[in-house]
Amino acid sequence: MQRVENEIARLIKEINYDEVTRLFEMLLGGKRLRAKLILKIAASHKKAPLLAAIVELIHAASLLHDDVIDEATLRRGVASVNATDGSKTAVMFGDILYSKAFTELVSFDKEIAKIISSSVTALSKGEMMDVKMADNFNSDEEKYLEMLYLKTATLIEAAAQAAAILTGKNPEPYALYGRNLGLSFQIIDDILDITADSATLGKPSMNDFAEGKCTLPYIYLYKVLSDDEKERLVSLHAKALDEQETLWIKQKMQEHKTIEKSFELAQKLSNEAMITMKDDEQLVNILQTMIKRSY
Ligand code: IPE
Ligand code: IPE
Ligand code: MG
Ligand code: MG
Ligand code: MG
Repeated sequence: MQRVENEIARLIKEINYDEVTRLFEMLLGGKRLRAKLILKIAASHKKAPLLAAIVELIHAASLLHDDVIDEATLRRGVASVNATDGSKTAVMFGDILYSKAFTELVSFDKEIAKIISSSVTALSKGEMMDVKMADNFNSDEEKYLEMLYLKTATLIEAAAQAAAILTGKNPEPYALYGRNLGLSFQIIDDILDITADSATLGKPSMNDFAEGKCTLPYIYLYKVLSDDEKERLVSLHAKALDEQETLWIKQKMQEHKTIEKSFELAQKLSNEAMITMKDDEQLVNILQTMIKRSY
């Protein structure tokens, strides 16, 4: 992983703008899940650290834009760039990281460059869908999962697939593994938004529903509530909630076990990924750590 950090630092330095260097320091606390995945799949290849660094730059850019979109003031345990330097700076900084990543991708085979760059189109489509769907209370699980695949799973899928191609492995099982890992990962992220506090998360908690995002625990809850309760839940959608309203939602989720139901789906997807990679201990470990994570 140190080689990945070195590559990231080198790419940031090449941008040659002290403002960018300063801002990037605010983003140093990530889990580096995508980079670890690439290193595990393509460990032996000398360009694996560069590919991992590129994917982490893309991921960081997506977070910069995501925090503007979600009006989130905390990221990786510190104030978000949009909070300290404003949304304009966060957007421009995100553009610089995206384009630097694309420039570096050119040194890879066309197939790899295409897989990674087209996943960014998918991610951006997913983010747009997420925002669009937040206009109204969404109770459509399928639509939600399709959006979630685009905004989160495609980059992880592409990272795994590209790493496999880099080392001449059959990319298909790796793509499937990445896809299911990514879906499961975002469902856990959505659960943690409700169950964890912001100090643990390093980002705001209970922010999704306030931003209009009806994640799985809300979708499952809606399905089982009485008509009156349905009406109450919908009336709380996309609003800053007081303590009592938050408590009501959490109590209803507890009563109907909708967090548990959501977790079951995450577990099912994670198990599918595990079956695909059952002989690779390290890739199985990544899944187990991911599913058990608390941040
Ligand atoms: C956050 O990703 C955005 C999602 C796709 C849920 P991570 O949870 O991997 O963020 P960092 O990189 O560890 O900060
Ligand atoms: C994932 O969605 C964001 C990206 C894919 C960029 P979220 O909006 O849930 O991510 P967090 O919770 O802010 O990290
Ligand atoms: Mg967000
Ligand atoms: Mg978001
Ligand atoms: Mg989230």
